[in-house]
Amino acid sequence: MSRDGVKKPGRFLTVEGGEGVGKSTQIVALADAIRKAGFDVVITREPGGTPGAEAIRQLLLGGSAERWLPRTEALLFAAARSDHVERLIKPALENGKWVISDRFLDSSRAYQGGGSGLSDNDILALHKIGSQGLLPDRTLVLRLDTNEAMKRASSRDAGHADRIQSRDSGFHTDVDNAFVGFAEKESRIRLVDASGPEEVVTSRLLSEISDLLELS
Ligand SMILES: Nc1ncnc2c1ncn2[C@@H]1O[C@H](COP(=O)(O)OP(=O)(O)O)[C@@H](O)[C@H]1O
Ligand SMILES: [Mg+2]
Repeated sequence: MSRDGVKKPGRFLTVEGGEGVGKSTQIVALADAIRKAGFDVVITREPGGTPGAEAIRQLLLGGSAERWLPRTEALLFAAARSDHVERLIKPALENGKWVISDRFLDSSRAYQGGGSGLSDNDILALHKIGSQGLLPDRTLVLRLDTNEAMKRASSRDAGHADRIQSRDSGFHTDVDNAFVGFAEKESRIRLVDASGPEEVVTSRLLSEISDLLELS
């Protein structure tokens, strides 16, 4: 609620990019900065964010790399997202909160679309059915050299990668290329250099949402 008693709209931000680029680290810093600007912030993640979606997350991230066929995997992601949107994201936005999700639809488009036999339109159709096509107000894509990202992720995980992380580095480069392609066509999607110290990356991210902070 603003001082004049008018309820301000909630904003929906998503942070995307390959494994190890610094998404989780930066989301904490972004949330701090947005809270300092006077807003309530909810941090969430995909797949997951609600009890039902976290249960689906276990199915998606556990087991062998070949556990699910691409179509099954895309449907599981869309089902998890539906629960997450209806039960957490939409209610928070309706209450005027800012929601920051660690991955969202564009990860499905980058990972499950393209090479896996499903088109971008197929993934968007699943999103329309599952989540009424809800799109973020802004999507921040962190980009880092693949080797550097793998180094960051492996020092964090001490060698314990999940099903999707354990796919090869060529796959990670394809994912990054997919995000670049989306950003060329959709103005809500911004590419952000994830190299350098954490605080420098945070200020790059804040400059990509400064318009939203001022208008709110
Ligand atoms: N700017 C940075 N410089 C160096 N290391 C970083 C930076 N940002 C994050 N890290 C470290 O890299 C690892 C991966 O970061 P994380 O936020 O977990 O990435 P993601 O969530 O994208 O997989 C973590 O150990 C984190 O502390
Ligand atoms: Mg993370």
